[in-house]
Amino acid sequence: MSDDKTTHFGFRQVPADEKANLVREVFDSVAGKYDLMNDLMSFGVHRIWKRIAVQLSNVRYGQRVLDLAGGTGDMTLLYQGRVGDRGEIVLADINAAMLRQGRDRLIDEGLGNNIRYVQVNAEKLPFGTAAFDCVCIAFGLRNVTHKDAALASIFRVLKPGGRAIILEFSQPRGEVVRKTYDFYSFKVLPLLGRMIAKDGDSYRYLAESIRMHPNQEKLKKMMETAGFERCDYFNLTQGIVAIHRGYKF
Ligand SMILES: C[S@@+](CC[C@H](N)C(=O)[O-])C[C@H]1O[C@@H](n2cnc3c(N)ncnc32)[C@H](O)[C@@H]1O
Repeated sequence: MSDDKTTHFGFRQVPADEKANLVREVFDSVAGKYDLMNDLMSFGVHRIWKRIAVQLSNVRYGQRVLDLAGGTGDMTLLYQGRVGDRGEIVLADINAAMLRQGRDRLIDEGLGNNIRYVQVNAEKLPFGTAAFDCVCIAFGLRNVTHKDAALASIFRVLKPGGRAIILEFSQPRGEVVRKTYDFYSFKVLPLLGRMIAKDGDSYRYLAESIRMHPNQEKLKKMMETAGFERCDYFNLTQGIVAIHRGYKF
C-alpha cells in the first residue's frame, strides 16, 4: 500500500519524493547497455510488442506523436516511418542519459528532420493542450511516481480524437506461465544484469516494479478516471505484456 507521502520502489516502500531519484539512478546506470539488455532479456520479442503497439495506435502520415519515456528511441524509430516528413515525433524522457543514447542513435541512423528531443517529467508535460494525435508510453508508466498525474497530463496534451497507447508489463495469465515467469525474472534477470550491465540491482528493480504495477483491469479503470474513453487492452505473450489504448473525444 502507498499513502500520499510514500510509494513503492520495487518492493521497497520509500518517500514519494525520493522515487524519481531512485529511478534516475537505475536508468543512469543501465543507459549504455539498455538496448542490448532488452534484446537479451526478451529474446528480441520486445521488438514485436513495440510494432504491435504502433499498429494499434493507427498513427497516419502527417500526425504528431509524443514518445513519452521514450528512452533510446525504439518507438520513435517506428513512428518516424509512419508520420513521414509532414509529421513530427517528440522523443521525451526524464533521464538525460537515456535521451542522449536515443538522440545519438537516431542521428546515427540518419534520422532527425522531424524528431525533437525534450527532457520532461510525464507527470507535468510542458506542452500545450491538444498538441498531439497520439501519446505512447512504452515500458515507462511503471516507473512514474504519480501515475494518475501522468495519465491526466497525457490526456490534456492529446487532441480531440487523439489516443494514448500504453505498452507495459502486466499480469501473466495462468499458473504455469506465472511460475516460469517468476523464476525467470527473479533468478535469471538479475544474473544477466550483473553479467552484462554490471548491475544486478537495477534488474531486480525491473522484476519487482513489474509486480507492483497495476494489472490490466486496474490500469484500464485508471485511464477511464483520467477521462479516456473507449478504453481497451490487448494481452501479448500470455499477458506478460499488455497494450492499453484509450481515446480523448
Ligand atoms: C524501460 S525504459 C523504456 C524506454 C523506451 N520507451 C523503450 O520502450 O525501450 C523507461 C524509461 O522511462 C523513463 N522515465 C521514468 N520516469 C519517468 C517520468 N516520470 N517521466 C518521463 N520519463 C520517465 C526512464 O528514464 C526510462 O528512459
